[in-house]
Amino acid sequence: IIRESTSLALKFEVLAECQTTKARVSRLTLPHVPEGIQTPVFMPVGTQGTLKGLTPEQLKQIDCKLILANTYHLGHRPGPELLQKMSGLHAFMHWNGALLTDSGGFQMVSLVKLSEVTEEGVQFQSPHDNTQMLLTPEKSIEIQNVIVQSLAYNSNNYPLTAGWNKTQILSPLHLKNTSAIVHARNEQNIAKYTLRHIHCADIIMQLDDVVSSTITGPRVEEAMWRSLRWLDRCMKAHQRPTEQNLFPIVQGGLDSQLRTKSLEEIIKRDCPGYAIGGLSGGEDKDQFWRIVTLCTDYLPKEKPRYLMGVGFAIDLVICSALGCDMFDCVFPTRTARFGCALVDSGQLNLNKSQYVKDYRKIDDDCSCYTCKNYTRSYLNTIVSNETTACHLITIHNVAYQMRLMARIRQAIIEQRYPEFIRHFVQIYFQDKS
Ligand code: GUN
Ligand code: ZN
Repeated sequence: IIRESTSLALKFEVLAECQTTKARVSRLTLPHVPEGIQTPVFMPVGTQGTLKGLTPEQLKQIDCKLILANTYHLGHRPGPELLQKMSGLHAFMHWNGALLTDSGGFQMVSLVKLSEVTEEGVQFQSPHDNTQMLLTPEKSIEIQNVIVQSLAYNSNNYPLTAGWNKTQILSPLHLKNTSAIVHARNEQNIAKYTLRHIHCADIIMQLDDVVSSTITGPRVEEAMWRSLRWLDRCMKAHQRPTEQNLFPIVQGGLDSQLRTKSLEEIIKRDCPGYAIGGLSGGEDKDQFWRIVTLCTDYLPKEKPRYLMGVGFAIDLVICSALGCDMFDCVFPTRTARFGCALVDSGQLNLNKSQYVKDYRKIDDDCSCYTCKNYTRSYLNTIVSNETTACHLITIHNVAYQMRLMARIRQAIIEQRYPEFIRHFVQIYFQDKS
């Protein structure tokens, strides 16, 4: 272990570092994955409490242990009350792996016509029933905190009842199977309880004020400072620091000075990990790489770095080299629903007639369920039958992302990452000139 950091609900151990780039391979241990996840890692996005087109069992089969869910959507439907009743999101969606929830901040950019930002929070119009909803930093954390239900039991297996308050969690990470010892107290007594089923999101995100990366001027600076004030409100509102990791988000657009200020302030807060936000919104690649480089130069080396909203294969390869550890993107699952399958040279649009008699699998090197059993020709035939094709191509695309990250990690460990990048870039841009 080259370097490491331990927080109440997270452990990060850097196992290998590339000698020529900033790439590293690490083990990220979270409450729902006591055995740890290897990074750099890609997290598929499940928007409405489901990963469109895949069941949790299938995710497990392709070695996916950490997925992303969205507060904005879940806050509307099923909503915090129903989630609480269903014993949290994990139980609701039948997922016992690790979960990261985004705060809802990003949806401001994508749904800007329906939203208005003030210092208090973001006013949204519900897409379901047109009612107004104010998402404040406190509300975002409250929703992310109740995407959870943890049950504490005493030695006779009685659950912690009203009148008893948990005071201290003694060992959130170290015990097997998401159980932990807690101290609880009522008016007279202190007792030891075993906390079981810590089914809350392992990583939660601060609410941030996100502006499009192509915007310049005072709005970018305002959003950066407001995101810092909202970070402080989120940290204050956070009720479960021993079970959930709150990650701050670096903002500041494409302005180096603003990014640096944001980094300085955020690092002072000493959080379990850090996210880089406000990118991948249509800015030029050289601007994108410049800001990622600036951020990873500044962020502490012993903590995880999460680059938000990035998931094109080429970006995963380059940004791993720039020192990022975690990524998420809707692209692989979304593009699958349009009939596009990911391969190293880009993507195959299986709608095209060139695949009518193409009896190869999508990808010779892939051993996913779809590649094991189906040809491009078959997928082309059924691609207009949305449900099945979407399902089969989604399996392949998520498996592709998982395998790409495994290949990246292997190359870093074997000290051949620069060659890996050269080779990958060459194939990716081969017939695109
Ligand atoms: N997803 C992609 N980019 C962002 C961002 O800047 N903030 C949040 N909250 N989510 C994101
Ligand atoms: Zn496949």
